Amino acid sequence: MKKVLVITYSQSGQTDEIIENIISGFDEKIELYIEKLKPIPEFPFPWNGMSFYDAMPESVEMIPSDMQPLSVDISIDFDLIILGYPIWFLSPPIPLTTFLKSKEAVKLLSGKPVITVIGARNMWVMAQEDIKIMIKEAGGELKGNIALTDRNYNLISVVTIVHWLMTGKKDNYLGIFPKPGISDNDISNADRFGQVISDAVLKDEYENLQEKLLALKAVELSQNIVSTEQKGKRIFTIWARFILKKGGVGDKARVFRLKMFKWYLLFIIFAASPIASLIFYITWPLFFVRIRRKMKYYSGVKLKVKQE
Ligand SMILES: Cc1cc2nc3c(=O)[nH]c(=O)nc-3n(C[C@H](O)[C@H](O)[C@H](O)COP(=O)(O)O)c2cc1C
Repeated sequence: MKKVLVITYSQSGQTDEIIENIISGFDEKIELYIEKLKPIPEFPFPWNGMSFYDAMPESVEMIPSDMQPLSVDISIDFDLIILGYPIWFLSPPIPLTTFLKSKEAVKLLSGKPVITVIGARNMWVMAQEDIKIMIKEAGGELKGNIALTDRNYNLISVVTIVHWLMTGKKDNYLGIFPKPGISDNDISNADRFGQVISDAVLKDEYENLQEKLLALKAVELSQNIVSTEQKGKRIFTIWARFILKKGGVGDKARVFRLKMFKWYLLFIIFAASPIASLIFYITWPLFFVRIRRKMKYYSGVKLKVKQE
């Protein structure tokens, strides 16, 4: 009997639903263990006011929080570890960082193949770079990645996701906007990845797994979004360090800087990013080869620590 451990963090259940559909196609010779990460204190869902922005510095700087002990027996010799998570501020969500930086992660991941499953809005590649590093540091070997995203136009998806995250309602905002998040269709079609992963587990053969997953459209990147995200991550890092100088989570001394970040974020999303997109498309022919190379890299599972 092969043993697969699935570790997830999902607030609304969206990422969990994707995972459930993927593993529904696994062979019955595979024994599944499910572990849901539980941070202490729990992050609110729906989010309220500043709590949302207060999660930014620790997400970006990858500072662990407290967490309930895992329920799984970490001495079990798993054949594969699957990690399922959303993205927070272009970074790994704090509960996943907390797990990946723990000694339990080292015990579970050491020498083991790992597959990541992301349920994001549309900007996940920079977080995945952080996650690649943390998996490597825990001794794991990333062999596959599936990233599902909201297919709506970028600015529309910002409006709908804010509605969802702040109200907890995954419905049509004002009756006119599309449903937030990953479409029901994309979530239910995630079952197509199950067979490929299941075969890899049974044969213990992961070398071409990502190519097989890519053939099933496990990753679909927009060059413009990736370019925006790269710039955004650099700026978020500066903001995170600036805010952290005033204290840790919940510290009143950092509220003013968090508010500054909130207004900056709104400006950058709705005013600066459309202009940046325009510049991207105008200059696109000049950087065509470099952009194509980057897209190939971000679609894969290899880690190149220094990215231009
Ligand atoms: C605090 C916070 C920050 C987020 N930042 C991003 C982001 O930078 N990029 C992105 O694609 N999605 C972002 N999202 C959306 C999540 O990736 C995810 O799609 C959504 O939170 C639902 O995930 P769930 O499975 O935890 O319910 C963010 C969500 C939260 C709560």
